[in-house]
Amino acid sequence: MKVISLINMKGGVGKTTLAVNVADCLTRQHGATVLMLDVDPQFNGTQCLMSPDDYVAHREAGRDTMLDLFDRKRVKASTVQGSTEVQPKTLNEIEVVEVREKLFLLPGSLDLYRLEMAPGEGRENRLKAYLAAIRGDTDYDYVIIDTPPTPSVWMTSALIASDYYLIPVRPDPLSLTGLDLLKSIVDDRKENYGLSVKCAGVVLTMTRQGTNVLNDAKAYLSGDRYWKDKIFTSEIPGRVKFAQQQLNNVFMLDSEAPDMRSAIINATNELVVRTT
Ligand SMILES: Nc1ncnc2c1ncn2[C@@H]1O[C@H](COP(=O)(O)OP(=O)(O)O)[C@@H](O)[C@H]1O
Ligand SMILES: [Mg+2]
Repeated sequence: MKVISLINMKGGVGKTTLAVNVADCLTRQHGATVLMLDVDPQFNGTQCLMSPDDYVAHREAGRDTMLDLFDRKRVKASTVQGSTEVQPKTLNEIEVVEVREKLFLLPGSLDLYRLEMAPGEGRENRLKAYLAAIRGDTDYDYVIIDTPPTPSVWMTSALIASDYYLIPVRPDPLSLTGLDLLKSIVDDRKENYGLSVKCAGVVLTMTRQGTNVLNDAKAYLSGDRYWKDKIFTSEIPGRVKFAQQQLNNVFMLDSEAPDMRSAIINATNELVVRTT
C-alpha cells in the first residue's frame, strides 16, 4: 500500500483535480485498488466522486465521513428529542464508500471546520492510525489523500500518514515562488514529527502550450538545484470544458480532448514509477 498526499499551500492549483484523476487512472489503467481520503473541509474531491444526491443521502443516513475519523467523541444522530451522543466506532469499523469497482472514498465533510484544533490531542496522527488499523483487512494498492491549501492539522496529518507527497503547481511566477516556502514547511514537519515522507515530484497544471509563462516555469524549475529532478515530464493542460464537467463526475480519462487523456495517463505512469 502506497500512500500519496497531494499538497500545495496555494489554493486553485489543481490538487483536488489531480488527486481524483490520478485515483481514477490508477484503477482504470493500472488495475489498482485505490482509497481516496478527502481531508479538505471543502470536500471538493468528494464532490467530484459522488453526485450531490448521493452525498446528501449518505449524510442523511448518518454514514461515515472524515469527521468520524478525526472526531472520536461525537454527537451523531439528531432527533426531535435532541441529539444523542454515540460511541465512536473503532477505526477499522469506519465504512468507506465504494464509488465503483476498485475505487473507494472516505468522504470529506464541511463539519471538519467545526473541530477545535486543540494542540496536544494527537489528531494529527489520526490518519496514520487509521491506515495502520485497516492494513491487512483491506488491500488497497494506493491511498490518495487530498488536502486543503493551509499548513493546518489536516495537511500535517496527511504528511504523517504518507510515504510520498505530490505537488501540483500552476506555471506562474507567484505559484513557483511558493514552492520553496512549501518545501520549508514540509521539512519543518518532517523534523518535528520524525517523518521520512518523500517528494514524488511536481506536476505543472492548467498549462497552455507555447506560452511564455510555461516556458519560464520550466526554465525556472529545471535550473533549480532541488526542483530540477522533481519536475514531471507530463503536464496537465488547461481545459475549461473539462472543468465545467467535473461536478458531473467526469474524469480526464473520459475527456474528448486527446491531450487531456494522454496527460493523465502519462502523469499517472510517471507517478507509479516515481513511487516505486
Ligand atoms: N486542467 C484543468 N483545466 C481547466 N481547469 C481546471 C483544470 N484543473 C483544475 N481546474 C479548475 O481549477 C479550479 C481549481 O482546481 P482544484 O483542483 O479545485 O484546485 P485545488 O484543489 O488546488 O484548490 C477548479 O475550478 C477546477 O475545476
Ligand atoms: Mg482542493
